[in-house]
Amino acid sequence: MQLEEIKQLDKKYISQSYGRSDVLLEEGKGCCVSGGGKSYLDMSSGIGVNCLGFCGEKWADAVSAQAHKLQHTSNLFYTQPCVLLAQKLCERTGMNKAFFGNSGAEANEGAIKAARKYSFDKYNRTDRYNIISLQNSFHGRTIATLSATGQDVFHKNFFPFVEGFKFVEAGDFEALKNAADDTVCAVIMELIQGEGGVIAQNQQYVDSVVKLCAEKDILLIIDEVQTGVGRTGKFLCCEHYGITPDIVTLAKGVGGGLPIGVVLLGDKVQNTFTPGDHASTFGGNPVVCAGANVVMDTLTDGFLSGVKAKSDKLRAGLMKLPHVTGVSGLGLMVGVEFDDKIAAKQVLAAAADKGLICLTAKTKLRLLPPLVITDEEIDKALSILKSVLEVM
Ligand SMILES: Cc1ncc(COP(=O)(O)O)c(C=O)c1O
Repeated sequence: MQLEEIKQLDKKYISQSYGRSDVLLEEGKGCCVSGGGKSYLDMSSGIGVNCLGFCGEKWADAVSAQAHKLQHTSNLFYTQPCVLLAQKLCERTGMNKAFFGNSGAEANEGAIKAARKYSFDKYNRTDRYNIISLQNSFHGRTIATLSATGQDVFHKNFFPFVEGFKFVEAGDFEALKNAADDTVCAVIMELIQGEGGVIAQNQQYVDSVVKLCAEKDILLIIDEVQTGVGRTGKFLCCEHYGITPDIVTLAKGVGGGLPIGVVLLGDKVQNTFTPGDHASTFGGNPVVCAGANVVMDTLTDGFLSGVKAKSDKLRAGLMKLPHVTGVSGLGLMVGVEFDDKIAAKQVLAAAADKGLICLTAKTKLRLLPPLVITDEEIDKALSILKSVLEVM
């Protein structure tokens, strides 16, 4: 089918909640993807998902072998891929237990439920349920995770929201401390606000929050849906900050391209969920977990050192491009700031015309390339961006 025909069917039969680029994608390998007779270098990973690129052999073999063996069972039974994935995630992160769902929003829903139940179980109070979140955060599109999201732009038209979320400015520790009264059970934050514009939290601020949470038995939930799974050059972004939260949420990169969300539960909350408290029909699906196990086996420390080296090369190259005034984020989670003359959305469109797929976040161009990107591909991406920016 041609792009125009597909676009018409999309318009007719798909709920029009996405603004899609004028690009048809049909098949991919590594960091390259093609469709409609055009090829693209992908610097988006399907918004941070395809961490191993498109259709890597080991990943695709594991997924298809599992699909031929046992595709789904329900969570009323044991399966090996699921339990092995949980073991790998816990051993890698120092967390104790995993709950599997299907998306980032669902992982954050699980984290919110775990935090509230921990508080209720321990304090036997019905008013210790508030969760402090940060302005400019993004935690998902379900009603509870939208309620936890500190950006009005996502809120309009969807009232009323779930009760029990308080917002404070990111980086303002005094504000968070003042909000942390005895009705608060948790703080939720992204260490690098992704959708908010690729903005990293300050180390001292994070240290102060960790200390305050420990003193007041307030659970710290770190949303690593975008930053996790090697994206920043460490398996968890928490490792850059030297922190071990009570709850970590993951999604995007975990499955290497198949839907999965994970709530990782630390010491305090590892036994909070008991049978019947929480569930997800597809959670821990064996096919998805088979793919995720390949992701976990691939992301060794050596592999992650390579991510750091690639990040250094990409960031240095970006800083040399015309109109670029700054590069934010960590590892291969990159925000590119431009001078006033340049709109990131125009750069995105012009780059796509020249065969380079990028993303935006607020006013920045956002790059989340597959972690397997090569030096040559980085050079190619930089040269396309240069040619786009030179004529702007
Ligand atoms: C930090 C963060 N949390 C949660 C989500 C929601 O994830 P999903 O779209 O898989 O529900 C996202 C998605 O971009 C995210 O970046």
